[in-house]
Amino acid sequence: MDKDLYAVVGNPISHSKSPRIHSLFAQQTGENLDYTAIQAPENEFRTVVTDFFSRGGQGLNVTVPFKEEAWKLADYRTERAQKAGAANTLYLDNKNHLTADNTDGVGLVSDLVNNHGIPISGARVLVLGAGGAVRGVLGLLLAQKPESLTIANRTVSRAQGLVLMFADEAGGASLESCGFEAPDAPFDIIINGTSASLQGDLPPLSPAVIGPGTVVYDMMYSLDATPFNQWAMDQGATRVFDGLGMLVEQAAESFRVWRGLRPDTASVIKELRTV
Ligand code: ATR
Repeated sequence: MDKDLYAVVGNPISHSKSPRIHSLFAQQTGENLDYTAIQAPENEFRTVVTDFFSRGGQGLNVTVPFKEEAWKLADYRTERAQKAGAANTLYLDNKNHLTADNTDGVGLVSDLVNNHGIPISGARVLVLGAGGAVRGVLGLLLAQKPESLTIANRTVSRAQGLVLMFADEAGGASLESCGFEAPDAPFDIIINGTSASLQGDLPPLSPAVIGPGTVVYDMMYSLDATPFNQWAMDQGATRVFDGLGMLVEQAAESFRVWRGLRPDTASVIKELRTV
C-alpha cells in the first residue's frame, strides 16, 4: 500500500528534527506515512505547497520563514491559527480547501503543564518578545488563566500591539506590556520567545525577575543550555527548560490533526535528548 505523504517546508530545512519526530510517531502508532523535508526557495513557497498537494500530499508543517505566508495562502484557518497570525500546519479539508492551523501554542502549554508539571493557571507570567513566535502562543497561554501576563520587548510598541490584539482573551488576567528593563520583581514563569540568542544576545532583564521558585522556559532548544537559560541559572534559577518538548508537542498536535490520534511524546523527547 502506498504511504501517505507529509513534509515540513522551510528555508533552511536541513537542521529540522521534524522528519525524525514524525517517523518515530508513525513507527509507534503503526500509521503508514512518509514524512520528508522540503527546502523552498524564498519566493516559491506557494508553488511548493500547490505542487505538494497536487501530488497527493496529505499535510505540511511550515517553519521559518514561511509561517505567515502559509497563513495568508490558506482558504480557511482554524480559530487558533486565525489569532496566531501564522500557520505551522496545512492540510486539505474534505472539500479540498487548503486549511491552516497553528499547533505551537498547544505545544508550549502541553510541555509546561503536562510534561514539566508547571501550572500556568494563577501564575504571574513574563513573556519576552513580541514577534511571530510569541503571537503564536499568547492565545493558548491566556486560555490557561494566569493571574497576570506581562509582555516585555525591545520595541515596546510591538508588545503594546499584542496587548491590544489579545485584550479580549485576557479574561481576568492583567495583560501588560513594557521594555526589558522595567520588571523588577520575581515572576512565577518567564518564557523567552525572542530570537536574541541567534545573535548571541541576551534581553537586558533585571536579575530581580528571578526568584527562588521561578520557572524559566526558552522556546529555543540546544544540546547545551541556551544562552538565556544559562543567564537564568547564573541568577539562581533552578527550574530551567528549553523548547525541545514544545517542538515534539507541536508535532504531536499536528499529527493528531492529520491522523486523528495523538502519539506518546515522552518516549520521543527522551530519544531526541540522547543524540
Ligand atoms: P519570530 O518569528 O522568531 O518571533 P520576529 O517576528 O522577527 O521573529 O520576532 C523576533 C523577536 O525577537 C522580536 O520580539 C524581537 O524584538 P523587536 O520586536 O524589538 O525586533 C526580538 N529580538 C530579536 N533580536 C533581539 C535582540 N538581539 N535582543 C532582544 N530582542 C531581540
